[in-house]
Amino acid sequence: MIMDPKTLAGRFPGDFVFGVATAAFQIEGATKTDGRKPSIWDAFSNMPGRVFGRHNGDLACDHYNRLEEDLDLIQSLGVEAYRFSIAWPRIIPEGTGPVNERGLDFYDRLVDGLKARGIKAFATLYHWDLPLMLAGDGGWTARQTAYAFQRYAKTVIARLGDRLDAVATFNEPWCSVWLSHLYGIHAPGERNMDAALHALHFTNLAHGLGVAAIRSERPSLPVGLVLNAHSIHAGSDDAADQAAAARAFDFHNGVFFGPVFKGEYPASFLSALGHRMPAMEPGDMETISQKLDWWGLNYYTPMRVSNDPVEGAEFPATVPAPPVVDVKTDIGWEVFAPALGDLIRKLNADYTLPDCYITENGACHNMGIEDGVIDDQPRLDYIADHLGITADLIGEGYPMRGYFAWSLMDNFEWAEALAGQFPKGNHRTT
Ligand code: FCB
Repeated sequence: MIMDPKTLAGRFPGDFVFGVATAAFQIEGATKTDGRKPSIWDAFSNMPGRVFGRHNGDLACDHYNRLEEDLDLIQSLGVEAYRFSIAWPRIIPEGTGPVNERGLDFYDRLVDGLKARGIKAFATLYHWDLPLMLAGDGGWTARQTAYAFQRYAKTVIARLGDRLDAVATFNEPWCSVWLSHLYGIHAPGERNMDAALHALHFTNLAHGLGVAAIRSERPSLPVGLVLNAHSIHAGSDDAADQAAAARAFDFHNGVFFGPVFKGEYPASFLSALGHRMPAMEPGDMETISQKLDWWGLNYYTPMRVSNDPVEGAEFPATVPAPPVVDVKTDIGWEVFAPALGDLIRKLNADYTLPDCYITENGACHNMGIEDGVIDDQPRLDYIADHLGITADLIGEGYPMRGYFAWSLMDNFEWAEALAGQFPKGNHRTT
């Protein structure tokens, strides 16, 4: 599709924020520098068979050492905002215990560098790099990790809060809960429903405790949460597949949106799995459901599901359904922009949501350099299509406030290894 950039730009209000996004572990490198200690991702990458090609984040994009030139890069793009994450293992390297001032100094320089260039700072506190020491006590399956997160959040905001434009507690808890504790694809690589259910509640709790900690330090700082809500589509019109899609919605979206925006877990989920959840303490759901100033949607691809015909299959009892279009990115993700619109409409119908930023969207295409240029057309088409849908949503009255392209630069793509290195196919789903 050819889209005139000026026509597209004209569909956005003047205060709509355009930005680019990254995450600490994917770009920083310098994993042993200035007091940083290992995270669960350092350990996971060191285990054979976990990350493609056994790559790790030791060097990544060397952003830690190239900070100034990377900030110049952002500025040269002409964007107004930069979304980055802060590495907990640099700030409180053992998870609990001493605060590492040199870690905070790095983010001080980062935030000051953004301010000096007139770029807004959108920080994420947790983008999956849990200090490894906490894994010894159960990691996210342990309630005390939520309190460790609360202290970390308070520490960061006390130092940086005066210069941040927005902060998110978590990036994509779906990944750090289900993908990491049930599907075994991300660190710590668990495949265990009981572990995952514990990680679910304690992550939600940590989010709520984090919100309170941030507000106690800096009441005026806009606080949000970034969710990779799934646009779920039934594989057919059959009642069984429609019911499967409803269960999948509760399992993949409802267990985060429900507690945070309604103060409750979805009923279908609770009746199937509630007895295996950790004990809740009085006040947990109130803590989790504090009103947010904004939320972030990371959207890449739809999720298609059918009913799992196996008798007694565990909730949500679904199997993947085939894509409806065969356009895929090099990471194997179906390209289907209308699903973004469906998703925002459905979520706003089901929940009372605050302002929304698309905090990640983009396409993985491993084009090489030919004659000094990269053919970026498929990526440009992808971004234009998704921006077009975003503009439609603004036209319909949804409070879409910004869009961040993923990513600022090619990086360490988790289990898929360093960008450009992984083979086609065989990938995690979102
Ligand atoms: C999202 C993650 C981000 C990156 C993109 C491709 O799930 O938040 O770190 O992996 O996908």
